[in-house]
Amino acid sequence: MSTPCYKNSKQPFEKRIKDLLSRMTLEEKLGQLNQIYRGHENPLPPEFAGQVRKGEVGSFIWGYAQPELRNQIQRIAVEETRLGIPIIFGNDIIHGARTIFPIAPALACSFDPELFERAQSIAAKEARAAGIEWVFAPMCDLARDIRWGRVAETCGEDPFLSSLCNAAQVRGFQGKDPSSNKNLAACLKHYVGYSCPRGGRDYSDTEITEWTLRNSHLPSFHAAIDAGALTVMSSFNAIGGVPAVANRHTLTEILRDEWKFKGFVVSDWNAVKETVSWGYAKDDADAARLSICAGNDMDMLSTSYCRTIAKQVKDGLLPVAVVNEAVRRVLRVKFMVGLFEKPYADESAYESAILRPEHIEFARDCVTKSTVLLKNDGVLPISKKVRKIALIGPFGDDQSEMLGCWQGFGETKDAVTLAQGLKVKFGSKISLTVVKGCSVQTQPRMKTLQDGSTVVDESAGKDDDAVNLSEAVRAAKAADLVIMAVGEPRGITGEGGSRATLTITGRQQELFDAVAACGKPVVTVVFSGRPLSIPAVIEKSSAVLFAWQPGIQAGNGLSDLLSGDVAPSARLSISVPYEVGQVPLYYNHYVTGRRTGGVYRDGVPTAARFWFGYGLTYTKFEYSDIKIVSGKKGKPAEAVATIRNKGRRKGVETVQLYIRQLACNEAARPMQELRGFKRVALKPGESVKVRFPLGGDVLGYVDCKGRTCVDKGDFHVWITPHARCGEALVYVHK
Ligand code: BGC
Repeated sequence: MSTPCYKNSKQPFEKRIKDLLSRMTLEEKLGQLNQIYRGHENPLPPEFAGQVRKGEVGSFIWGYAQPELRNQIQRIAVEETRLGIPIIFGNDIIHGARTIFPIAPALACSFDPELFERAQSIAAKEARAAGIEWVFAPMCDLARDIRWGRVAETCGEDPFLSSLCNAAQVRGFQGKDPSSNKNLAACLKHYVGYSCPRGGRDYSDTEITEWTLRNSHLPSFHAAIDAGALTVMSSFNAIGGVPAVANRHTLTEILRDEWKFKGFVVSDWNAVKETVSWGYAKDDADAARLSICAGNDMDMLSTSYCRTIAKQVKDGLLPVAVVNEAVRRVLRVKFMVGLFEKPYADESAYESAILRPEHIEFARDCVTKSTVLLKNDGVLPISKKVRKIALIGPFGDDQSEMLGCWQGFGETKDAVTLAQGLKVKFGSKISLTVVKGCSVQTQPRMKTLQDGSTVVDESAGKDDDAVNLSEAVRAAKAADLVIMAVGEPRGITGEGGSRATLTITGRQQELFDAVAACGKPVVTVVFSGRPLSIPAVIEKSSAVLFAWQPGIQAGNGLSDLLSGDVAPSARLSISVPYEVGQVPLYYNHYVTGRRTGGVYRDGVPTAARFWFGYGLTYTKFEYSDIKIVSGKKGKPAEAVATIRNKGRRKGVETVQLYIRQLACNEAARPMQELRGFKRVALKPGESVKVRFPLGGDVLGYVDCKGRTCVDKGDFHVWITPHARCGEALVYVHK
């Protein structure tokens, strides 16, 4: 018997897909659209092995670095099913597989997309060796409301920066050839609008106009599609009442028709079925039909597709062509990641692929480039005169907290804490006292009243969350310098991690106040998945480093910065408010005709405490000669500036270009929009001229039909160290 065309690696993919599709039964097709999650029982339970054998499973969510078990399952699919179609194994490898890097908004603070690319290429190598050929990343959602815990997975609040970072992540994951054993398929999520839930409550609905969708939320997805992303995940939310998983406008009209996306869309966890809870679909069958017809190809976990679609096709309610197209897209990706040629993972590759010295070194580099120096009265870098340091706070020596909201295959034991990092950095030169002081407890104890209602029990929590103020105060008093390691625990960030307050949790504020009252200089290092509103902590600190969730090299990278061996260079990817009541707060909002006087009636400023793009280093830069020069020989005009390092240390400045179109008849444009940046490294006294061409890509917007438009007329242009800073130049685009 001759080899069927779909098994012939010499034939083009599309021909093989056509051949394979023509051989498949409807049930086998639906199996390809079914993704399941299963534990790692070894040996596999018979009923489950039977499900794979019948071809009912197209994909696994596979959270384990166990290639041999994965291969056992794959062997059933490849050797025991009628057609031998391999399964695709996907997992949440978000900011590292085993080598855990800083979280995405932290890496975005580097303003260095290549850093992202390299981090994700390392993650790809480690994940492939674990038996994964598909990752549910990058997250292209735009940070909008920091009460929403999943800002910890975004690349920040700016569409331009986010677009560059997400495209870079796709290149990092997929490389030039996603079928190589170093690369894998990326999945852009969550498509789309998931990041604007009401009140910051995860999974809530969103109202986003077409204009805002086009100009704020879609650009980063579009850029990542253009970078070649093979898959997309539709989101949990409804947009204007229509669940994203069943939203034909976004899934088909925009994604396929406009952007020409050829890969497949997987739903988010159980989201197909949840269209019933939304009150959109009547029942499971309705949910499946509406979702697949809208353009959602694979069903993550709800099993609605495999249980209901066959009957609907047979009853003439759903054209088989819709199913065929969804299957074609899934098979295409399976071919592209090389599964038909190499269905099995190398069972001996994992140990030598992970935590390689160059991965660890790079993770350390990432920490130094993504930690933002928010304040420094001169106490940093730590002076040679300092002999005694007290490191106080629950984040100072907690390995687990360093890993962040997703940890892939990361292990607590791999993490270097700040206490460990400082010991290695300073050795016997400094005497280091480490005091935890309190726990990071977050959950208020609840009590039930007689009428059955539940309220916060103010007296609980305090007893078993003992705060050791006296030990902390004693250590602070005996020290030359205090480092406070405070923040929010990783367990309340990420998915489901919505917060109504944005303070440091538990009794950390009490601890901080007691220590700050000792009168010693305090350097505060904040560990968090999102910006926090901690104005009092900032005021009372001599210096503040915002470390996010830094990953396994936390302590080493932070010690590099504190000691001055490396100068900070990161800039905020998300604005930091004074108070939670200001949220949602982002720099690129619209301008109204009314002034609010800059303060709320209760005295809180309306501005951010630190705007997007802000960050200090150990030297100072001067901007001069900022002007627009007209373009010659048909070239666009340029915004130019001279940047000089006027301090005594070398440093890296991130020069930022913002624009505002003053009159746009399509719809108003934001107060400022980042449209360019350049990182320049300068020695003391050195200067450089920075140029930004003002071409259509810089000045344009996307109209509601998806067309890129560039209008003639007046623009404000800024070359500046961060948003809301410096004088605007006026540029007339002719
Ligand atoms: C999350 C996704 C994730 C998926 C699979 C969902 O609950 O929203 O981001 O990729 O689970 O783990």
